[in-house]
Amino acid sequence: MQKIHTILPLLLLVLTACQKAQPPAVAEIDSDFLKNFQVAPAKMESDKNPATEAKVNLGRVLYYEERLSKSQNISCNTCHLLDKYGVDGTPTSTGFKGQKGGRNAPTTYFAAGHIVQFWDGRAADVEEQAKGPVLNPIEMAMTDASSVEATLRSMPEYVEMFKKAFPDAKQPVTFDNAALAIGAFERGLVTESRWDHYLKGHKDSITPEEKAGFVAFSKAGCASCHNGAYVGGRLYTKVGIKKAWPKQDDLGRFAVTKQEHQKMVFKVPSLRNIDKTGPYFHDGSVAQLEEAVKMMSEMQTEKPLTEPEVVAVVAWMKTLTGDIPADYIKKPAMPAATAQTPKPQAD
Ligand code: HEC
Ligand code: HEC
Repeated sequence: MQKIHTILPLLLLVLTACQKAQPPAVAEIDSDFLKNFQVAPAKMESDKNPATEAKVNLGRVLYYEERLSKSQNISCNTCHLLDKYGVDGTPTSTGFKGQKGGRNAPTTYFAAGHIVQFWDGRAADVEEQAKGPVLNPIEMAMTDASSVEATLRSMPEYVEMFKKAFPDAKQPVTFDNAALAIGAFERGLVTESRWDHYLKGHKDSITPEEKAGFVAFSKAGCASCHNGAYVGGRLYTKVGIKKAWPKQDDLGRFAVTKQEHQKMVFKVPSLRNIDKTGPYFHDGSVAQLEEAVKMMSEMQTEKPLTEPEVVAVVAWMKTLTGDIPADYIKKPAMPAATAQTPKPQAD
């Protein structure tokens, strides 16, 4: 008797301590609902632009090629750093002559899988997109396609690589082919995360708290827009459905279509690697993921998430962070310039 008296309070203490340490209990996630999500593909293939090894290798070199810019010090990797999850970590990027663009640079990881490119969908695919920044006067600022071609043709190593990548072309070194090669490379920019392991059936790959976060995400209606293999990237919607978006100077898709109902319509971004790709939103206005989640829940959904739900949603989102494919993104040796290669221009 004496023994039980001393042990019982101790036992209770231990029990309550355990309870406190435990995250909110969650039953297994509904398997039917999970069908709205898919494992990340190993590659995002395109029938129009089959990715041969030679084309991908060329695309990788071009992705890192600073001589595709007028000042010869800006490459795709300047704004979409491959070892930093495809972003530059700034609200809006800096291009030619230190000029700032108006929009946040989205990640190039998984971009090839989206229905369209850019926040406003003005390019159909990564191949078409790749030509944009090279000629954009505030990004890489090359004068025109023929100046890009003159630069590339001045380097024999490039001529060789283009021949291998486009063996049937009479003139393989073209601006269009450069874009195809960059696109083919981008189609392999994928990461694999714990969320993928979970979707493959390894139920212990994510914790009970993370599962609770996913349930809160689904119940709030986030998954009506952020779903599929990329947890987004599948449709356009208005931003600020329930409450207006604070900044109204960038009207999104309206600038492309001029249709009234497309004011403040943007592509729903992918949430893969979201913990690593801040600052958030088209204007890069929010630095912290927790704040971005709160804002979304106030502006896009009927019933805002509670504080603990926000914390759990962020915990779940971290399961979307994958491993950087170190070998695939390794910076290759760059072709040597010749006397014919144009020199950098400051203006
Ligand atoms: C000066 C910075 C800068 C450079 C250099 C740059 N980008 Fe971007 N990139 C951006 C910004 C900003 C956006 C978003 C613009 C928008 O939506 O209007 C973007 C958008 C994209 C997208 C669309 C992603 C999505 O989710 O819609 C892809 C893909 C991309 N860039 C690839 C490239 C490639 C390939 C290169 C090199 C040829 C490149 N970028 C060079 C800043 C840059
Ligand atoms: C009606 C569609 C819709 C719903 C519902 C929705 N979102 Fe979004 N989400 C978007 C759009 C569109 C954007 C891009 C907004 C922008 O930058 O203009 C976005 C952006 C985001 C971003 C920033 C992504 C980035 O790369 O900058 C996060 C994080 C996010 N949403 C999380 C959530 C969460 C969490 C919920 C639920 C509480 C949610 N979303 C509900 C459409 C939606």
